[in-house]
Amino acid sequence: MPLELHKARIVQKLHLVPIERRLEALHEGGFNTFQLNTMDVFLDMLTDSGTNAMSDNQLAAMMQADDAYAGSQSFIKLQKAVEDVLGKKYLLPVHQGRAAENLICVAYVKKGSLIPMNYHFTTAMAHITDKGGQIVELLYDEAYVVNSSHPFKGNMNIEKLEEVIIQKGAKNIPFIRMEASTNLIGGQPFSMQNLRDVRAVADKYQIRLVLDCSLLGENAFLILQREEEFKDSDMGTVMKTMTGLADLCYFSARKLSSSRGGGIATDSMEIYRELEALVPLYEGFLTYGGMSVREIEAMAVGLYETLDESVICQSPSFIKYLVEELDNKGIPVMKPAGVLGVHLDAMQICSHIPQSQYPAGSLAAALFLISGVRGMERGSISNQRDEYGNETYADMELVRLAIPRRVFTLSQIKYVEDRLTWLYENRELIGGLKFNYEPPVLRFFMGKLEPVNDWPQQLVAKFKEDFGESL
Ligand SMILES: Cc1ncc(COP(=O)(O)O)c(C=O)c1O
Repeated sequence: MPLELHKARIVQKLHLVPIERRLEALHEGGFNTFQLNTMDVFLDMLTDSGTNAMSDNQLAAMMQADDAYAGSQSFIKLQKAVEDVLGKKYLLPVHQGRAAENLICVAYVKKGSLIPMNYHFTTAMAHITDKGGQIVELLYDEAYVVNSSHPFKGNMNIEKLEEVIIQKGAKNIPFIRMEASTNLIGGQPFSMQNLRDVRAVADKYQIRLVLDCSLLGENAFLILQREEEFKDSDMGTVMKTMTGLADLCYFSARKLSSSRGGGIATDSMEIYRELEALVPLYEGFLTYGGMSVREIEAMAVGLYETLDESVICQSPSFIKYLVEELDNKGIPVMKPAGVLGVHLDAMQICSHIPQSQYPAGSLAAALFLISGVRGMERGSISNQRDEYGNETYADMELVRLAIPRRVFTLSQIKYVEDRLTWLYENRELIGGLKFNYEPPVLRFFMGKLEPVNDWPQQLVAKFKEDFGESL
């Protein structure tokens, strides 16, 4: 049983509105959970990005921030934290993770570039393609098996990596990108051995290795749990060993340090110089990078807290609990339990909905309707169309129920389990969706959809039949 290793001293009131209001809210938000208003949401499991609970020490540090355009003491504290925790000497601050991706792509990606990666993240891919580059994903086949016990589904396929480099030519590959706790395949880690193997290939062909460290702490935690060599090690050693293998590390502090902001860290003065001028151009001066000094203070403290296993274990242990409970009931869910959230397998749960009608988007909408729980579609809606405007269907249709660090209690997790069980029993009532407004870039954020028929009304009718006037 997962156990909270903290106590709540500041709380926020939640709202559980009637199902009729939730149906209206879905229509207003175009059946896209990104478009919902938090007044209509009961448990917000959209993301862990910027929603992890902060610690008392983070809040206290925010009160002592040194507000200065240049040379702020808050930035100096952050630089030290990055050096102590990530082991990198030089830090370029940016306002969040995608800003780091933008700067890296402005500096290194051009038309014809190819970026091999274990798997894409939406914003990373958007910045690469925006600069005329392309990506290639090189996971092993087992990564796409939802019902699996493979401990390191985020591993990069080393043989394929070499093949791609030989085919494309190393000069057209400005960097290899590895993502810790690979987000879009269910928060699945890679092993240290795999990262070492990627490093060896990068060295052989003289290609930079870029590590997306947004979920570094959780990947390190799972290495401690699952990789024999590190079973007696500690968070600090594992994290520094990982970052030590990369030429350039970047992160979303919204995830890594339970704060806001982001950064790019490196030991190479050459890389630092290549990126330096882009920070004041796109973000802000080099000692704040578009962040407020209060965020910078919270980030410095949050980075040190990432080393504390009793902080990092919270989200993965609640995820493991919910995955096991759902799995015992036969509800298809991504396995083994990863980090970040619980990932429902919409391809199986809604096997009657074709991919062209977005099963994961439909399941996310249906779950919100019958519970007020807001998850995120991580399937074909989150993919972008190809250069000819064709749909590119996702390898997996997942609904992510994010479990941010230290936010939800066990009874709230049990509520999710209870409503999901009812929805699974009534899954045939869930229908498909179609776009009525589809923006060309990052459509999953702003897009609006509508149901293909009156399935939401039918689901409400069944809910009323079973639960009466209960919310
Ligand atoms: C792995 C990964 N990389 C990059 C980003 C982008 O970071 P941000 O949302 O701070 O722009 C995210 C955000 O969720 C992420 O999960």
